[in-house]
Amino acid sequence: MRLDCNGDSGGGAATNNWGRPRVVDTILETEGLTKEFRGFAAVSDVRLQVRRGSIHGLIGPNGAGKTTCFNLLTKFLPPTRGVIRYDGRDITGMKPAEVARLGLVRSFQISAVFPNLTVLENVRLALQRQRGGSFDFWRGENLLRQYDDRALELLEDVGLTGYARLTAGQLPYGRKRALEIATTLALDPVMLLLDEPTAGMTHEDVDRIVALVKRVAAGRTVLLVEHNLKVVEGLCDTITVLTRGRVLAQGDYASVSRNPEVQAAYLGTDPTIAGGSQNV
Ligand SMILES: Nc1ncnc2c1ncn2[C@@H]1O[C@H](COP(=O)(O)OP(=O)(O)OP(=O)(O)O)[C@@H](O)[C@H]1O
Ligand SMILES: [Mg+2]
Repeated sequence: MRLDCNGDSGGGAATNNWGRPRVVDTILETEGLTKEFRGFAAVSDVRLQVRRGSIHGLIGPNGAGKTTCFNLLTKFLPPTRGVIRYDGRDITGMKPAEVARLGLVRSFQISAVFPNLTVLENVRLALQRQRGGSFDFWRGENLLRQYDDRALELLEDVGLTGYARLTAGQLPYGRKRALEIATTLALDPVMLLLDEPTAGMTHEDVDRIVALVKRVAAGRTVLLVEHNLKVVEGLCDTITVLTRGRVLAQGDYASVSRNPEVQAAYLGTDPTIAGGSQNV
């Protein structure tokens, strides 16, 4: 069963306080999105609507279908059925690189981090890729230097200025995720998809990544899969809850977390949630 907690996820238009139609600006939407693995529906008839400019969280207990859904949205998996629309365009049959060119970019999609290159060189290569079309290791140092200013700006955005000359392999874990975000930002995304950006992090790193996601979300749309409910509460404007491949609820954190069906779904897998604990 599906609950629309915020009341405006059922269609493209709603009414405002004066009764006039208000168009909800949806940047990414799916209809009937389904992925079956040998007959088992990991994602089933999902209707998702992500508002332009929002930070949208995709949550749910283990095995709910979050990663599968994420892989469908980023075109890493073809759907069994259903439609995905991005910015008014049907992208269901497109390849990851094609949707990335349209501005729908997944972290670590194209921007692999090379451990033996410096932090600065990694961002510079991502910029070169964005502007030149391909990695070209044979380019002269002088040609690559033209990207330095922008690369340093991006490093500043993610708090890595002091790490620019270290090799990426030397970075602590949390900082590596920040570098991955910087190389993703080099691709100039309109919409950014992040799969568990805080997974495996210490509290301090989690706080830093939350602040970073907030900062990079300015002027963009972000969709993130996240296990840590405190992160979801702090970041997300809208949350979609999946269980057993289906949308169980959608709305803001307050309404979703009060929803008895959501509570039951989490209780079924992790009783600590009942006490308001952080991890799903
Ligand atoms: N390639 C695959 N082949 C067969 N079954 C799969 C495949 N990928 C996922 N599944 C199944 O689909 C269901 C959803 O998996 P998925 O990884 O999308 O869940 P999730 O919500 O990301 O879980 P988690 O919180 O544990 O990361 C699970 O039952 C999983 O075993
Ligand atoms: Mg997963």
